[in-house]
Amino acid sequence: MLKLGVNIDHVATVREARYRDRAQGEPDPVAAALLCEAAGCHGITAHLREDRRHIQDRDVFRLRESIRTRLNLELANVPEIVAIALKLKPDIICLVPERRQEVTTEGGLDVVKHRKALAVTRRKMNDAGIEVSLFIAPDVEQVEASAEIGAQFIELHTGQYAEHFHHKRERNAELRRLVDAATLAHRLSLRVNAGHGLNGENLPVLHLVPHLVELNIGHSIISRAMAVGLPKAVKETLGLLKGYRG
Ligand code: PXP
Repeated sequence: MLKLGVNIDHVATVREARYRDRAQGEPDPVAAALLCEAAGCHGITAHLREDRRHIQDRDVFRLRESIRTRLNLELANVPEIVAIALKLKPDIICLVPERRQEVTTEGGLDVVKHRKALAVTRRKMNDAGIEVSLFIAPDVEQVEASAEIGAQFIELHTGQYAEHFHHKRERNAELRRLVDAATLAHRLSLRVNAGHGLNGENLPVLHLVPHLVELNIGHSIISRAMAVGLPKAVKETLGLLKGYRG
């Protein structure tokens, strides 16, 4: 069964738009996470960014106490946030690149270039009982480097696939890269997640990519929730994952 992790960052984005630097305010990402769980999602994902533009420290600790599914903390490999993750003890972390100007995570991690530093964090997390995923572009070298440093998971960046979805040639080329990367990762004993830009339109075609364990989806679910409510948006997305053959 293909699992769904819901990324709740955008709930906090709306809250911060009005209540920045306040201890409280609506909407509450933790309440949203509980609604997503009640609707059947398999995990909650939150990105604690260095600039705290959406999710705050208190959110991740409340999530840790409240949710019953898996907590996936996305973070950049920087000492301050790594220390918080070690204290928080999420079930899994996903290391992502982070640039201050970007609206959302734009590119994949360069595991080849940052192999040493990522290996150190990978070991610290595993020693603390936390699984490690690396958010990477579907490139052979990045998959190989992820296996070499001992990550348990990779998360394949589907941004380019989503971006080119309406251009058949580019879309097919991206699909090919995703299929090849997932196949190689599976051969190297990495488990494979995917995410970024996935929505009702492009999800059915993504079923062509083998070995997927979990998809992390934020924007399309939170957007759809404005029309139909969060529980229904989550259930609709779960419906689109059904029938995945792996
Ligand atoms: N996976 C990772 C690593 C992300 O950083 C994000 C958010 O940018 C997502 C998945 C979810 O992407 P989206 O909000 O486009 O569904």
